[in-house]
Amino acid sequence: MSTAKLILDGKEHEFPVVTGSEGEVAVDISKLRERTGAITLDEGYGNTGSCRSAITFIDGEQGILRYRGIPIEELEEARFTEVAYLLIYGRLPNQTELVEWREKLTRHSLLHEDMKKFFEGFPASAHPMAMLSAMVASLSTYYPDTADLDLNIVRLLAKAKTIAAFSYKKSIGQPFMYPLNHLSYTENFVHMMFAVPAEPMHISPVLDRALNLLLILHADHEQNCSTSTVRMVGSSGANLFASVSAGVCALWGPLHGGANQAVIEMLEAIAADGGNYRKYVEMAKDKASGFRLMGFGHRVYKNFDPRSRILKTAADEVLAELGIRDPLLEVAKGLEEIALEDAYFVEKKLYPNVDFYSGILYRAMGIPTNMFTVMFALGRLPGWIAHWREMREQGARINRPRQVYTGPTRTSWVPVERR
Ligand code: SDX
Repeated sequence: MSTAKLILDGKEHEFPVVTGSEGEVAVDISKLRERTGAITLDEGYGNTGSCRSAITFIDGEQGILRYRGIPIEELEEARFTEVAYLLIYGRLPNQTELVEWREKLTRHSLLHEDMKKFFEGFPASAHPMAMLSAMVASLSTYYPDTADLDLNIVRLLAKAKTIAAFSYKKSIGQPFMYPLNHLSYTENFVHMMFAVPAEPMHISPVLDRALNLLLILHADHEQNCSTSTVRMVGSSGANLFASVSAGVCALWGPLHGGANQAVIEMLEAIAADGGNYRKYVEMAKDKASGFRLMGFGHRVYKNFDPRSRILKTAADEVLAELGIRDPLLEVAKGLEEIALEDAYFVEKKLYPNVDFYSGILYRAMGIPTNMFTVMFALGRLPGWIAHWREMREQGARINRPRQVYTGPTRTSWVPVERR
């Protein structure tokens, strides 16, 4: 095993070097403080590995994304339920396993009838991410952690889409639509979102295929903010539902999963402003403006985000198949073209990320903007579950980072009459 040497206060210390299966190199500093009294500082953890993981590999320089070794480009014909099984259990299910897995996901789609009452307490204006997080955490009140973990994994995957659809129906004042057991996972979601009791509904195979692709492309992304949150919360021994509920909250932020909603709001503003791309690109380059091109940039991808490329092609195909002309797609393409020719974006290696085109597809499906991040969460569920399960299998220690203290040195209490 190779090592890395550190000289601190004139003393030399040697630490082991760990190499991953794709050749990534890490200095193992697990004994750093014990041996030197010092810690490392890496705000935002851009240079820090939090764990060993065998689930997803990203090469940010090459624009590579693989789920359990399979490039996402090879998954375009897969079904989301297969990819969920792959991520969670580490291999593709055979025919028998897939039938059983799908049957379980179908049979656990219903919420306990009492959970429906929770929605009555939310205002109609409640953001669906708030409802999703609250309802996912509430699943632990019905299905305690002591229960069969694999069954709770099925329950979470099966019920989350029902919760999401109910949240949407709540926001538009329509009756909840129950899942139908003859429908697939994605067809059931579309049914619960858009069907009404008054008439039958045709589910477009074009939209079903697009939804399936979107969920697959969002399914995992190694140690991103929300997945790291799920691992962090799970490391304390918190149950699966509580850990994933925390992940939903982390994803909600506009710098993370909330970006897909922010992208559409940005494109709408640019369209309303006469499609003046150059103005917004210049604003994004001016720190004082506080404006960022949402859907651009990535902590890991310093080349194209492979998901964004696939989604851009899918957006063209789906809109053409549906005969939809969405002006925001043209705005997005125009913005991308100008930005990628601009020295600022080229030098800082800012490319469109997964959130830049996904909203165009959600819009084509009739999904409202405030549901976009919920769609991201539904896709990311298998990744969150897979990482939580891996962390538990690894017997991970509770995550407890250190800090560099910069506050006041020793002071004393002063009674209020003398302040
Ligand atoms: C996701 O981690 C994951 O894997 C996340 C994700 C997943 O699948 O889980 O891929 C999903 O969250 C995608 C990212 C969605 N967020 C956005 O689209 C929001 C806009 N993008 C940025 O805010 C930013 O690019 C981040 C948050 C994505 C990355 O932030 P970093 O790595 O901390 O980079 P940074 O903010 O330090 O930016 C580096 C430089 C800065 O300039 P300098 O201080 O060096 O002069 O690039 C600039 C930034 O100002 N910059 C941008 C920019 N993004 C970065 N400038 C203008 N527009 C942008 N979008």
